Amino acid sequence: MAAPLFTVAASLLVCATAVTGTIPPKAVSPVVAKTTDYGDLVDPGLNRDSCTSTLWSDNVLWVCRDTQQVLSNGSIGHQLVANTASFSSLPSSRSHHQQLLLSSPEPYGTLFYPFQQDECPANGCGDNVCGPGICGPGSRWIGWPDTTPLVVARDPFGTGWVDAYGWMAKQRLDGLTVLNATGNVLFRVTSRVSGEKKLPTTTFVDTFWSPTEIGYGTAAHVIHEEFAYLYGGTPNAELAVARVNLAGGSFENRKSYEFYVNGTWTRKTPLFTDPGAILPNTSAKQGTVYWSPKWKSFVWIGGDGFPDANGLISTAPKAEGPWSAPIQFYSGSIGNGTLPAYSLVAHPGLTDGTGDYIFISWTKTHPDPATGFAVYTQPLVRVDWK
Ligand SMILES: *[C@@H]1O[C@H](CO)[C@@H](O)[C@H](O)[C@H]1NC(C)=O
Ligand SMILES: *[C@@H]1O[C@H](CO)[C@@H](O)[C@H](O)[C@H]1NC(C)=O
Ligand SMILES: *[C@@H]1O[C@H](CO)[C@@H](O)[C@H](O)[C@H]1NC(C)=O
Ligand SMILES: *[C@@H]1O[C@H](CO)[C@@H](O)[C@H](O)[C@H]1NC(C)=O
Ligand SMILES: *[C@@H]1O[C@H](CO)[C@@H](O)[C@H](O)[C@H]1NC(C)=O
Repeated sequence: MAAPLFTVAASLLVCATAVTGTIPPKAVSPVVAKTTDYGDLVDPGLNRDSCTSTLWSDNVLWVCRDTQQVLSNGSIGHQLVANTASFSSLPSSRSHHQQLLLSSPEPYGTLFYPFQQDECPANGCGDNVCGPGICGPGSRWIGWPDTTPLVVARDPFGTGWVDAYGWMAKQRLDGLTVLNATGNVLFRVTSRVSGEKKLPTTTFVDTFWSPTEIGYGTAAHVIHEEFAYLYGGTPNAELAVARVNLAGGSFENRKSYEFYVNGTWTRKTPLFTDPGAILPNTSAKQGTVYWSPKWKSFVWIGGDGFPDANGLISTAPKAEGPWSAPIQFYSGSIGNGTLPAYSLVAHPGLTDGTGDYIFISWTKTHPDPATGFAVYTQPLVRVDWK
């Protein structure tokens, strides 16, 4: 009986394909059932911008942007480290929700992703701050990761052995004005010991995507079935996607990458300006892509940029789309700083992986009365879907 049934189903499928060209995906309707406020991330002694997270071995790795010390008198220090990392546990349950503690085994001052020789790697001083990457007044290389490292292999026996990759843009800024954009760097990120005593090691692999290419992997990434999908921003602030086959490919070899351009996967690297690389309905504002078993769908969650903390969601049956028009599912509180809120991201690594719920966080700022520096807080919220 099974065989004839299969044949009927298959021919129906062929029919539907012939008529419509594609099999219409089942519509996904993300509806919020409940939100639970976990308070702000706790970062003892540190003032940190824009943190993202990923499940590491049996803990969570956080990578944040600009990190300053909170001095003993409560003011923010003038030393600035462009990116730092921490570990945390998984969040407590919804019924006993508590603030999540981020802690680092390393003293303040350690860069997670090092600067290259052409990025003023020594401790320079600008108008009000000093740190690696700062060349002088009005000139700093930012070293701001937009997303966490992508974990590509993890020892299942709990020895703490993790292999990951991180991609980051090389940009020199004056304030928020881009002076130079000199391409994108690939880092190997590895742990060989378990526990929280040692942060992963980051190793520069190569300047991977040139300034005339898309920074694949810098904006978001997701692993699903046999591929890792790597997203990068396009000139109109949408996303483009590349993929690497996990079985046969190497992230360190450009030949392993395929690019989605003009409606098909190709080995030809598109130019940054190729309109055929743009995925309609996507946004390169900081955000996160993950796979939801609940919806059998790829999910993008991100913010709408300054000044709000509005959470937007979009879904797609395939990593390359078609992506649904983003809808707003959440509106978070904002601060009273110059940039009141931004960097709304999702944290799939903090969940059980079912897609029944997600964690989101964003960055709120208010001015430090003594120095005028932005003080960052990052609320963490659990969103349960209907
Ligand atoms: C705290 O100390 C720092 C460094 O000495 C100083 O710049 C800052 O103004 C002090 N803050 C307050 C509130 O006194
Ligand atoms: C950055 O741009 C300036 C011009 O704005 C140029 O003179 C300089 O060589 C560039 N630096 C790098 C590292 O590309
Ligand atoms: C995509 O199509 C455009 C317009 O036909 C073309 O200029 C471009 O080279 C194509 N891109 C690739 C990577 O084939
Ligand atoms: C963008 O989203 C809208 C609403 O879901 C949809 O109608 C439209 O087809 C999408 N655009 C593309 C190019 O997929
Ligand atoms: C700005 O926000 C901070 C933190 O919530 C608060 O302490 C401060 O009073 C606010 N300042 C103004 C001018 O509202």
